[in-house]
Amino acid sequence: MDVKKFITLRNGVEMQGIGFGTWKSADGQAAYDSVIEAIKAGYRHIDTATLYKNEASVGKAVNECGLKREEIFVTSKVWNRSRGYDKTMAAFEKTLSVMGLDYLDLYLIHWPAIPAQFEDWNDINLSTWKALTELYKAGKIKAIGTANFFPQHLESLMQTEVQPMINQIEYHPGYTQDEVVKYCQANGIVVQGWSPLGNGAVLNDAFLGEMAAKYGKSVAQICLRFAVQNGIVPLPKSVTPSRIASNLDIYDFEISEADMKAIAAMPETGFSGWNPNEVDF
Ligand code: A2P
Repeated sequence: MDVKKFITLRNGVEMQGIGFGTWKSADGQAAYDSVIEAIKAGYRHIDTATLYKNEASVGKAVNECGLKREEIFVTSKVWNRSRGYDKTMAAFEKTLSVMGLDYLDLYLIHWPAIPAQFEDWNDINLSTWKALTELYKAGKIKAIGTANFFPQHLESLMQTEVQPMINQIEYHPGYTQDEVVKYCQANGIVVQGWSPLGNGAVLNDAFLGEMAAKYGKSVAQICLRFAVQNGIVPLPKSVTPSRIASNLDIYDFEISEADMKAIAAMPETGFSGWNPNEVDF
C-alpha cells in the first residue's frame, strides 16, 4: 500500500497527507502551545476556522514557530453568517489580519447553504464560491474548497471556472460517508476528514481495540491509518504532546485489505449528529 506523506492537489499544490486539527482547542496558550508542539512533532499542515475562535493563536504559532511561512500549509474556513460574495471577502480579510498572515494555503466554505434553510441555497453557495475564486486567482489563497458539502451541493461549483480542490467532511470508523467520498474522488476533489477519532467517541470501541492490539498500535493510530489508506487526509486534534506525536506515527504499518473492509463495515459509531442537509446553524 503506497501511502504518500504529501499529496498533490489538482492545481499542483502540495499538502501533507495528515493535518493538525484545532477544533475545540481553546484560544490563547492551549491552542498556541498545541500548534507549536505539532510543528515540532513534524506536522506541516494546520487546520483552523473562524468558528473555532482560535485563529489568532494559531496564526501567532505559525509566525513564531521558527519555520518559514511557506513550509506550513494553513487552512481556515468562512463561517455561515459570512456567506455571499461581499461578506466572504470581508471575512477573509479579517481572518488574514487576525492570524497575522498575508495569504492562506487553503480556505473552505465551512458548511453549504441548504434547501431546508434557503430557497436560493445554490445561488448563495455560488456567490460565496465566486469570492473564494477571486481570492484564489489573486494569489491570496493557494487552494480553495468546501467542507460538509454533499454531491448535490458540489455539482454547481464543479461547473465554475475553478473547481473545488478539497471537501472536508466528518470521517472516521463508524461514519465514512461513502457516497460523498466516491463522488469527490471521482471528481478530483481531495477529501479531508474532520473528527477522524470520532471526536474521541470511537476510541473505546471493542472491535477497534482488537485491531489495535493486533497491529501493536493505538486505536487512534488505527483510525488515522484507516483514513490515509482510503485516500482521506485526516485532521486529528489534540492538545496533549504525547498524542500529538503518536497521531503522526502511522507510516510504519499497514492495515490488511480484509481488516480495512471489516473496519469499513462497522455499524454507525460516533456520528456527530450533524447531517449537512439538516443542521440549523
Ligand atoms: P486531547 O485534545 O485532550 O488530547 P477528533 O480529532 O476526532 O475530533 O478527536 C479529538 C479528541 O480526541 C480530543 O478530545 C483529544 O483529546 C482526543 N485525542 C486525540 N488524540 C488522541 C489519542 N491519540 N488518544 C486518545 N485520545 C486522543
